[in-house]
Amino acid sequence: MPTGKKDETMADTRVIEVRETRGLTGEIRIQGSKNAVLPVMAASLLNRGTTVIRNVPRIQDVFCMIRILRALGCGVKFAGDVLVIEADALTSCEIPADEAEKMRSSIMLCAPLLARLGEVVFGRPGGCSIGRRPIDLHLKVLTETGVSVTETESRMFARTCGLRGALMNLPYPSVGATETALMAAAAAEGSTVLTGAAREPEIEVLCHFLEEMGVQIEGVGSNVLSVRSGEFRRDCEFTIPGDRIVAGTYLGAVMAAGGEVFLRDAPENAMKENLRVAGRMGTRTRTFSNGILVKQDGILRLVILETGPYPGFSTDLQSVMLTAALRADGISRIREMVFEERFATAKELQKLGANIIIEGNTVYVEGGQRLSGASVCARDLRGGAALAVAGLIAEGTTLVDGYPCIARGYEDICGDLQSVGAAIRLIANDRQRV
Ligand code: UD1
Repeated sequence: MPTGKKDETMADTRVIEVRETRGLTGEIRIQGSKNAVLPVMAASLLNRGTTVIRNVPRIQDVFCMIRILRALGCGVKFAGDVLVIEADALTSCEIPADEAEKMRSSIMLCAPLLARLGEVVFGRPGGCSIGRRPIDLHLKVLTETGVSVTETESRMFARTCGLRGALMNLPYPSVGATETALMAAAAAEGSTVLTGAAREPEIEVLCHFLEEMGVQIEGVGSNVLSVRSGEFRRDCEFTIPGDRIVAGTYLGAVMAAGGEVFLRDAPENAMKENLRVAGRMGTRTRTFSNGILVKQDGILRLVILETGPYPGFSTDLQSVMLTAALRADGISRIREMVFEERFATAKELQKLGANIIIEGNTVYVEGGQRLSGASVCARDLRGGAALAVAGLIAEGTTLVDGYPCIARGYEDICGDLQSVGAAIRLIANDRQRV
């Protein structure tokens, strides 16, 4: 049976085929966190020795970051879930435009490259199409640490004669800009105090990694971070925690399709709001030291929900909650407060017959209606995964196009859901089969 594991999906035109499945049972092991590993990979450039990272997910964004690191001159080995990065001899300060276009996280490489080489050439980064994604806050914190930035039509150039510590404030708790600020501060001369920092669990992971490298950080987990650079250790090892968004996606799948599934390695601490909302909707969860047991056997209650920066409800789980709300008793209301255009998935769900009204940044979802399988398209990573989940509750067969988008962040969504009884598989695209 074909699964999603494929290292290079550049020309991957496969489609997910899902048939209605009620009652998922068994266990899914949750992969390492995408949003945690990418900044850790970027920060490993600060280390002139060897960095060993464990529990690394085999996803397309990681492969993309590996290609970028190699283009910059790093030695990179990736075997199983262990990634070894040798960043002793960097040979280029240019982030390849074709790779950066695919992944917004490439912007994270700016601060470490500036620290190591004093300059960086980059384009405006890509990623999912979920609305305007400016980089003004990244540029703000870089400028405040002594970086000058110029821009041509297609490329941006940043230079520094040496990063220096500063007092910085973020007017909005951007995750990426907080990571940029932390990496710049870690390599800067003197101390930095950052107020208004994002508090996402992935920021904590980056702080712990930097501490492992010898950087001193106070306030980890809060929105005020004080950073003092130290002597970077030459070699370090680090383990990536489980992916709270992947765990939340599968929690959403059990909420929608019903059943009882153990999410091994799901990081309960980072999922409190997600679990609270699931509980309010009538889903039972029980936390163990090695994961979370999810049980859904009755009718779901409707949900009134707003996304927000952590510890608020994650915007990345908005579309899977929208899908779960299709099974709820009554009309749910979900408001998107982080990204501007994150309702592309709602429009795809309408193709399955879902009664959804979109008004600005709010959607109203009528639960309990009959859905019928149809052809839909993954417009963004998390929305694509939510469409695969929606296929479980639609009569007949649903085809989800745009698999490469999903493979950016899920190692093997089909294999994972198959292992708990879902009728889901990757098939060749029709256009290829004729
Ligand atoms: C990260 C996550 C992404 C998640 C998001 C919010 C990674 C790889 N991605 O993305 O999965 O959905 O956090 O939890 O970790 N903004 C600006 N100027 C900037 C930067 C951001 O205005 O310079 C705005 C964005 O347009 C958006 C909001 O801030 O409206 C949140 O963005 P941000 O927190 O930066 O998200 P990312 O780091 O891109």
